[in-house]
This record gives sequence, C-alpha cells and structure tokens, in this order.
Amino acid sequence: MALINSKQRYGSLSIALHWLVVIAFIGVYASIEFSDSFPKGSDMRSFLKGLHFSLGLSIFIALFVRIAARLAGAEPEIVPAIPEKQKLAAKAIHLALYLFMLGMPVAGYIARTLAGKVTYLFGIALPVFGSVNKELAGSIIDLHETVGNIGYFLIAAHAAAALFHHYVQKDNTLLRMLPERK
Ligand code: HEM
Ligand code: HEM
Repeated sequence: MALINSKQRYGSLSIALHWLVVIAFIGVYASIEFSDSFPKGSDMRSFLKGLHFSLGLSIFIALFVRIAARLAGAEPEIVPAIPEKQKLAAKAIHLALYLFMLGMPVAGYIARTLAGKVTYLFGIALPVFGSVNKELAGSIIDLHETVGNIGYFLIAAHAAAALFHHYVQKDNTLLRMLPERK
C-alpha cells in the first residue's frame, strides 16, 4: 500500500495517523474524566491529568504530519460518487475536526502556563511563558471544557456519517480509510 494518498484511497501514513489519533482521543477523554474519581493530590489523579496533557499535545503534533500527508497526495474519491451537498458537509466536519485538534491543545497549554504550572510532554518539561493570570486561565479552561464537550458530538457525527456511508449508501468512504485487504 502506498505511503501517500492516491485518488483511489488514503495512504498508509494518513490511515495510521487517523487511527492512532482516534486511540489518543479515547485516552484524552478517559484520562480527564477518570481523574475526578481520585482525591486531589493523589498520585493517580496527577498521573491521569499528565496523561491528558501528553496525549492532547501528541494529537496537536500529529495534526501537522496529517496536514502534510494530506497536501502531499491526491484527494481520495468516493465511489460511487456522492451529491455535492454531502461532499460540502463532509468538508465542513473535517475542517471543524482539524480546528478542534488545533485549538484544544493550544488552549489547554496556554491556560496551564497562565496558571503558572509546568506542563510535561511524556516527562519533558515545556516552557512556561508570560505572567501568571489565574482568572484568565480559569476562563480559558471553562471554554476548553465546553468545546471539549461539543467535541463528543462532533466526533460522534463524523463516525456515524462514516458508518452511514458504509452500511446505507454502500460506498467506499470507510474502506478507503482502512488498511487494504489483499
Ligand atoms: C484534543 C485535545 C484535548 C481535548 C479533546 C481535551 C478535552 C478536555 C475536556 C473534555 C476537559 C474537561 C473534563 C471535565 O469535564 O472535567 C478537559 C479539561 C482540561 N484540559 Fe483538556 N483536552 C485536550 C488537550 C489538552 C491539553 C494539551 C492540555 C494542556 C497542556 C489540556 C489541559 C486541560 C486542563 C488543565 C483541564 C482542566 C482539568 C482540571 O479539572 O483540572 N487539555 N480537557
Ligand atoms: C470511530 C471513530 C471514527 C471513524 C469510524 C472515522 C472514520 C473516518 C473515515 C471513513 C474517514 C474518511 C472520510 C472522508 O474522507 O470523507 C475519516 C476522515 C477523517 N477523520 Fe475520522 N473517524 C473516526 C474518528 C475520528 C476522530 C476522533 C477524529 C479527530 C478528532 C477524526 C478526524 C478525521 C479527519 C480530520 C478526517 C479527514 C481526513 C482528510 O483530511 O481527508 N476521525 N474518518
């Protein structure tokens, strides 16, 4: 299977990154939701929060490789062709997902630095810049949490659309994002 996307299907780079990021998303959401079940100051709570930050930042880094992989190849076509309106809707959702993967980690990291806290990327300390502003940090986190909750719906709509294409419209939308079967 080719590394880069062709007109027929996604390449192995885009496919691997897409599904690794899906796994990272499960970890990002699960870690922060479960962290609340452990008492403040406990090792498990700080481990889970640290995991949330590291996985979230990994999604941010992977985003740039994904965009490069997308730009380097062709746009895989859906067969049989779908109406233009549906293509536009898919583009809008993909753009929203890209903005989500860009905005969420940036907001989280900025909020941490504004709170004067060091963020670690799998053990590597990232810089803390600017002066401390806990109030602004709190507002950014409120927004981060709200948009994070909207993300559940965005991802669900995207996954449901993929299944609709596969089982109802019976086109190759999902198959071209899966490893090729010989
Ligand atoms: C795509 C990436 C990310 C998603 C989808 C995401 C999502 C979320 C969600 C849903 C919550 C709220 C959980 C709740 O309701 O209690 C949250 C909280 C938070 N996130 Fe993220 N996040 C991401 C990346 C990051 C990154 C990279 C950082 C920091 C470097 C970060 C920092 C935080 C902080 C500080 C909180 C508040 C946690 C607390 O209760 O103390 N997030 N995030
Ligand atoms: C079980 C969950 C998921 C399924 C079944 C799924 C399925 C698919 C499929 C079939 C495609 C190709 C569709 C097309 O090009 O029109 C696709 C593309 C895409 N997916 Fe997912 N996906 C899932 C989760 C996610 C998550 C969690 C994200 C990120 C938040 C995401 C982001 C994207 C993006 C940005 C594209 C567009 C790729 C491009 O640039 O062409 N997906 N997904």
